Amino acid sequence: MKKSHMGFKTQPQFLIIILNILTVSVFNVHSQSISDDSDVMHALKNNLESHTSINWSDPNPCNWDHVTCTKDNRVTGIQAGNQNLKGSLPQNINSLTNLQVLELQNNQLTGPLPSLSGLTQLQHLLINNNNFTSIPTDFFNGMSSLLKVYLDYNAFDSWSIPDGLQIASKLQIFSATSTNLTGKIPHFFGSDTFSGLITLRLASNWLEGGLPDSFSGSMMQNLWLNGQQSSSRLNGSIRVLENMTHLIEVWLHGNSFSGPLPDFSGLNRLQSLSLRDNSFTGPVPLSLTGLKSLKVVNLTENVFQGPMPKFDDSVAVDMIGVDTFCLQYPGVDCDSRVNVLLAVAESVGYPQVFAEKWHGNDPCELWLGVTCSGDGDVTVVNFQKMGLTGSISSNFSLIKSLERLVLADNNLTGVIPDGLKDLPNLVEIDVSNNQLYGKVPIFKESVKVESDGNPDIGKDRPSVTPVSPDQRSGGNGGGGGGLDTWVVVGWVIGGFCVVLLIGLIGFWFFKVKTKRATGLVSQSTMVIHPRHPGPDGGEVKITIANSSNNNGPWETSMPTITGPSDIHRIEAGNMVISIQVLKRVTNNFSPSNILGRGGFGTVYKGELHDGTKIAVKRMESGLMREKGLDEFQSEISFLTKVRHRHLVALLGYCLDAKERLLVFEYMPQGTLSRFLFNWENDDLKPLDWTTRLTIALDVARGVEYLHGLAQQSFIHRDLKPSNILLGDDMRAKVGDFGLVRLAPEGKASLVTQLAGTLGYLAPEYAVTGRVTTKIDMFSFGVILMELITGRKALEETQPEDSIHLVQWFRKMQINKETFRKAIDPCLEPYLTEEALASVTKVADLAGHCCAREPYQRPDMSHAVNVLSSLTDLWKPTEPDPDDIYGIDLNMSLPQAVKKWQAMDGVTGLDLGRSGCTRNTQPSLRSTLQES
Ligand SMILES: *[C@@H]1O[C@H](CO)[C@@H](O)[C@H](O)[C@H]1NC(C)=O
Ligand SMILES: *[C@@H]1O[C@H](CO)[C@@H](O)[C@H](O)[C@H]1NC(C)=O
Ligand SMILES: *[C@@H]1O[C@H](CO)[C@@H](O)[C@H](O)[C@H]1NC(C)=O
Ligand SMILES: *[C@@H]1O[C@H](CO)[C@@H](O)[C@H](O)[C@H]1NC(C)=O
Ligand SMILES: *[C@@H]1O[C@H](CO)[C@@H](O)[C@H](O)[C@H]1NC(C)=O
Ligand SMILES: *[C@@H]1O[C@H](CO)[C@@H](O)[C@H](O)[C@H]1NC(C)=O
Repeated sequence: MKKSHMGFKTQPQFLIIILNILTVSVFNVHSQSISDDSDVMHALKNNLESHTSINWSDPNPCNWDHVTCTKDNRVTGIQAGNQNLKGSLPQNINSLTNLQVLELQNNQLTGPLPSLSGLTQLQHLLINNNNFTSIPTDFFNGMSSLLKVYLDYNAFDSWSIPDGLQIASKLQIFSATSTNLTGKIPHFFGSDTFSGLITLRLASNWLEGGLPDSFSGSMMQNLWLNGQQSSSRLNGSIRVLENMTHLIEVWLHGNSFSGPLPDFSGLNRLQSLSLRDNSFTGPVPLSLTGLKSLKVVNLTENVFQGPMPKFDDSVAVDMIGVDTFCLQYPGVDCDSRVNVLLAVAESVGYPQVFAEKWHGNDPCELWLGVTCSGDGDVTVVNFQKMGLTGSISSNFSLIKSLERLVLADNNLTGVIPDGLKDLPNLVEIDVSNNQLYGKVPIFKESVKVESDGNPDIGKDRPSVTPVSPDQRSGGNGGGGGGLDTWVVVGWVIGGFCVVLLIGLIGFWFFKVKTKRATGLVSQSTMVIHPRHPGPDGGEVKITIANSSNNNGPWETSMPTITGPSDIHRIEAGNMVISIQVLKRVTNNFSPSNILGRGGFGTVYKGELHDGTKIAVKRMESGLMREKGLDEFQSEISFLTKVRHRHLVALLGYCLDAKERLLVFEYMPQGTLSRFLFNWENDDLKPLDWTTRLTIALDVARGVEYLHGLAQQSFIHRDLKPSNILLGDDMRAKVGDFGLVRLAPEGKASLVTQLAGTLGYLAPEYAVTGRVTTKIDMFSFGVILMELITGRKALEETQPEDSIHLVQWFRKMQINKETFRKAIDPCLEPYLTEEALASVTKVADLAGHCCAREPYQRPDMSHAVNVLSSLTDLWKPTEPDPDDIYGIDLNMSLPQAVKKWQAMDGVTGLDLGRSGCTRNTQPSLRSTLQES
């Protein structure tokens, strides 16, 4: 790099000096042959068709409007911009050798531009916005005083910037937007030749190639290269920008630039950065989002990776349609597995193929070259034959679960990082057919290591300069091609060294053999990505996350991709799910996927790619608007961590610009109200008493947990059968808990409307809106009554004094006879003495819970005690009395659901199908044995 800089620096400058001497002497002779500039000026006047607007009638051009001269009548300035001039310029205009300013912009001048070569004094050249048809190659020759050049908007025949321009070493502005310019950006626009260049505008041309290295250290402030129309457009890396620290406005949009964005930390004057419509990959760096000077940034239509950047509110940001960020919410960090894989991709320059094929925030969801175990650990990385250049990242050693690493058949250079040998689960590493050198780390004996086809492996340094991504062509081929070359070289030299030739042939045989071997290996490891990673994949270990270590199997010392403090982090890890994913899994919120509608929105059924079902609650728009986004997020991220066997798990959420979506575990049997009040219509069997009792206890346990949560006290406020959901085992979970907290606060009527349902409202709450845990107790009492009677909290069809279940129930409770009539007729025929006693006890509890005064109602722990004593006989053995699971926040959604269900399965007893037709069972264990 350094060398070529020096080369450019010395050679052209030497040339320029020669040129300078030649042109200056030649044109001095020429100019002296003309005593004054009158002839040229009259030629100019005659060439112009329409100059009525300006007074050029005087015989002496020095008296003309817009013309300035020296005392001895040499023309120094023609400033006739915006004069509606038509016509063309005379060929000999370059005889005006004292000309310093030529301004003809915004006219309708046409015809070919004459050469201006030799105008050594010319400083300002403004001929933009005309209709000139061509520009000669010697146009700039000898213009050593040039400061400002504006050629924009002239439809020249295709041209390229002539080398002669190099003489203009004082150039400050060169502007040639939309001039049909072709070729590459000349290196001499860099700091070495044009050390004072501050504006370079070459937009809307036909340029190709990359940004010259010579831009490094430039004083440029304004760089417009946008909108090239050539097929290859401007391309390659824009890394050099990191050394262009004076830049204020950079427009590169509409090109084919690629690779990661550079470090912007030195560009502390940058205000406007337009990168849209290119092929940039990698994360948007914090050095950009953190730039204080930034005002406008356009990122749309690229394949950026990593977290969606969060810019300051004062920055106008355009990044619509960049859907390759891991999440669609600005500033939220990616899953730690995503971070590690991006760190790995960094050392191979964030190749396009990964940027395009690595979607979303879960590397286990069909990411190219990545295979996972059933519980979401990356076990295989297979990047074979992906044309990768660069080096092997030492960050591979952070993927502790890695079992196979296949990097064969690329153009990787450098050494094999030593840390890889410490990967605890590694069984195979294949780096064959690359350009690696250095010692192969000493792996455990059990690890299969393939490193053939790396000519310099084992040597201290590479024998040839490594192929860099910029100069891929012409590098020494790593595989068979390389060998052929070696053999040919062998023949040439072979005349005097037969031994070498024999050696080479030996090497060739060895090579052919090992190649075949590698072929076999790679075939057996080519199984990339089973479409349905699942528990059938072999040894699936379910690891419960250690709550003190959120990073699970991943190392805590993560490479900083998104940086530390200035991003608002949500601890919820991968609980953020993109709107695209939710749209996909719910069939674009198809009405046929609707599971139900609730106080907070509509619930849709969704099915993940592996068949796992989820429930997606789409919050009613407007409902959440009053809550600040931050507040909403922290509530949600708290709720995602509330885990109880009898609370419907909130698995994730999505905050889109317009939408708030919550993702819950899917409860296949639907609501309790369905089984209590709608069983005939839904073709269900009514629930038997055992099941009702178990459901009551499940609900009591779930709500007891909610009431007892540390720090934030959760009061459900809307307990009712339609918020109680059932699994296939007919065990119940309380849903919609905590959602009321997300609703706007402070408006009593609104709170009441949102948080309660008539018939379940505690009297004091209905009157005063005062919220304590005792209002949940009241609602719970109503639910118990419903379980006993099979009647709804409010039965409009009943006579006046029986509409309200609580009132009616109290009346019926007065004596045994009336009470028996209150019991759900469906239970009646099967009521044994024992069961009737149980029902009576629950009825007492229900009455207790519905006491008029809150202080008269028991706590939920009391209800749990009563109910569990009644179910004691039937109680299955539970492994974990606390009912609280840890959840690994790094698991993917399907993995979380699976694990969740696996743990639930411990109590997966079929209580459900018994119904009225079966008598109460003395022991659940015997039920289990029967089936
Ligand atoms: C044009 O300029 C000449 C001399 O500079 C002056 O005498 C004449 O009046 C001007 N004509 C008009 C129309 O302004
Ligand atoms: C010059 O070009 C413009 C825009 O292309 C066009 O509108 C105008 O008619 C042209 N004028 C002449 C004199 O050719
Ligand atoms: C611009 O250049 C292209 C070739 O690069 C040529 O085909 C086209 O005719 C030119 N346009 C004009 C207006 O001269
Ligand atoms: C930036 O400048 C530094 C120091 O001169 C140099 O080492 C580095 O290669 C330059 N980077 C680019 C991309 O030109
Ligand atoms: C860049 O984005 C801003 C904000 O959306 C917009 O106003 C501006 O026109 C865009 N500029 C370009 C060059 O696309
Ligand atoms: C390595 O680079 C060379 C030169 O660009 C190329 O021909 C060859 O296909 C590359 N090898 C692999 C395995 O991609």
